[in-house]
Amino acid sequence: ATKSQTTRQPRHFLDLDALEPKTLRTIIDMAHAMKRAGKRTPAKFKPDEIAESTLAMIFEKPSTRTRVSFDVAMRQLGGQTLSLNNSDLQLGRGESIADTARVLSRYVDAIMIRANSHETLLDLAEYATVPVINGLTDKSHPCQVMADIMTFEEHMGPIKGRSVAWVGDGNNVAVSWMHAAVRFGFELRIATPDALRPEEAAVDWGKREKGAISYTSDAAKAVRGVDCVVTDTWVSMGQTDAARRKKMLEPYAVDAKLMSKAADGAIFMHCLPAYRGKEVTADVIDGPQSVVFDEAENRLHAQKAILAWCLGVS
Ligand code: CP
Ligand code: NVA
Repeated sequence: ATKSQTTRQPRHFLDLDALEPKTLRTIIDMAHAMKRAGKRTPAKFKPDEIAESTLAMIFEKPSTRTRVSFDVAMRQLGGQTLSLNNSDLQLGRGESIADTARVLSRYVDAIMIRANSHETLLDLAEYATVPVINGLTDKSHPCQVMADIMTFEEHMGPIKGRSVAWVGDGNNVAVSWMHAAVRFGFELRIATPDALRPEEAAVDWGKREKGAISYTSDAAKAVRGVDCVVTDTWVSMGQTDAARRKKMLEPYAVDAKLMSKAADGAIFMHCLPAYRGKEVTADVIDGPQSVVFDEAENRLHAQKAILAWCLGVS
């Protein structure tokens, strides 16, 4: 990192609740513009520094979309990437996150991490002097939901005032949807088994922020009349109680009958990887209401906008 980058506060992208609505809107608008421009990023979103920048990507868990979309995003912006698995780093042998953050900050211009524990992300951000990006933790997945908001708007128009139902496990992606509901001003109905409601900290935050977020164990009730139905895997990376979860989550499978309760023209979203015949039936995810591959593509465009913002654009 250059001296000027170490003397100012880095622009971290840690969670949607930590960012202003105006900033998030700027990033989404930039993502739409990035997509329109294709591989030729508009000059105003691509200052010279980006072309000289390197992004380090640390993976403590597997990834297809996050890994490839960040890598390609950085290349299309003219920068470089390093893909580092936990076990390749001394981190895997017990070197502290603080020292890893201090050292990497001397080499690279931004760090993206997919971490087992959210604490690891926060420690990295505390000690890094370059921007840190959350590429998924056990608690949240903000980059995914930025791509999801972008996808919703492409198909349905502005998301402000619209309605989304989250059906299934109250997991990390659900928490980022809750943050987004408040920051972008839409209604979010969460249908989960009582034991799998989203974490209390996020529920309390939503209440404090007076978000239009409701909770039920009745999937059909949550879906009635919504513009978008979202689900995710029943067993997230790092979870070990697969049999227990499957039993609890079976009534929450998204099938054609459930989708028929949503508004006419409603869309279906899933961050992928998906497990057909579990959280969603094949006819829904491969059917006309599904926008899951647009979501996957939009990870690339949203990531370019997030990187441009972190590295100083706007
Ligand atoms: N949706 C998502 O983050 O996918 P990967 O786990 O493949 O990165
Ligand atoms: N909830 C899932 C999302 C994968 C992109 C997980 O954490 O495994």
